[in-house]
Amino acid sequence: STPPVKVAVTGAAGQIGYSLLFRLASGALLGPDTPIQLRLLEITPALKSLEGVVMELDDCAFPTLDSVEIGDDPNHIFDGVNLALLVGARPRTKGMERGDLLSANGAIFTGQGKALNDHAADDVRIGVTGNPANTNALIAMTNAPDIPQERFSALTRLDHNRAISQLAAKTGSKVSDITKMTIWGNHSATQYPDIFHAEIGGKNAAEVVGDQSWIENDFIPTVAKRGAAIIEARGASSAASAASATIDAARTWLTGTPEGDWASMAVRSDGSYGVPEGLIYSFPVTTSNGDWEIVQGLEIDDFSRAKMDATAQELVEERDAVTELGLI
Ligand code: NAI
Repeated sequence: STPPVKVAVTGAAGQIGYSLLFRLASGALLGPDTPIQLRLLEITPALKSLEGVVMELDDCAFPTLDSVEIGDDPNHIFDGVNLALLVGARPRTKGMERGDLLSANGAIFTGQGKALNDHAADDVRIGVTGNPANTNALIAMTNAPDIPQERFSALTRLDHNRAISQLAAKTGSKVSDITKMTIWGNHSATQYPDIFHAEIGGKNAAEVVGDQSWIENDFIPTVAKRGAAIIEARGASSAASAASATIDAARTWLTGTPEGDWASMAVRSDGSYGVPEGLIYSFPVTTSNGDWEIVQGLEIDDFSRAKMDATAQELVEERDAVTELGLI
């Protein structure tokens, strides 16, 4: 039988956790034949609530769920994990400055990076969902010197999925007909959703749309500001869709992109496309067996170049800020 996979989830008692854990436990990550061992990290005051979530997990009697462990010590929870989904983060609260947000999260992700460095399995992959995701991933990566840097990524798959959904609606096509979508840069309002290389049933998406004004004034801002639109409508930030994207991203990473397609993933820049080396920047990537490669050779026009540079610049500023705070 297939050996179990140990999956850590941080912030497990939060909104995203409430959706994510049940999907993981039901086999959405690696199918029904791979047993899942869940290792759930929370801060001490949230452990009681997490116990309630575990009661519900028990009550689902998922055949795929091998075991569940909870705790507030990352050194224990990350012990031997093959996959770590870092969802828990400190949200921005009223009156909090950007610097306060970065330092509150810095404390979380330096500690978790060190704990992963010392305790995770040799094959660990780490996906960061908690915001600011790219920079949190950079902090964790920098604080885990013994883990290969390509094992860290930040989530832009939700943006990628949002972009596919918007494009499908605009063109009356099925989401499954859309390939080669790209999100460049930061998981923030400066991200650049790019359909100039995307395809719909094998035809160039931008040509099928044939409407530059829709791309600039509708599509890009709708995707980039979707998170805010959901908060406005729902009174809470996107959670089920974020959980779903977190699973999509991990599954793609571990099992591979389909032939003729790619995914968006924020990974350490090697300087491709002129993106400053070392930033955690979302690129089009192909994956296989837990490894990723940045898709090379895409033609970038002036419009795209400006947007890719703007989102890189924001990440440079975030990196400078956490460097100044001594977090990396
Ligand atoms: P939430 O506030 O409902 O849950 C976060 C949980 O993390 C809380 O239960 C909290 O106790 C826990 N937590 C805080 N510090 C922790 C620590 N040091 N160790 C372990 N757990 C800790 O938030 P929600 O809605 O679940 O979102 C989680 C994060 O995901 C937020 O940062 C949010 O901005 C981000 N997000 C990212 C998206 C993306 O596409 N990258 C999309 C949507 C949300």
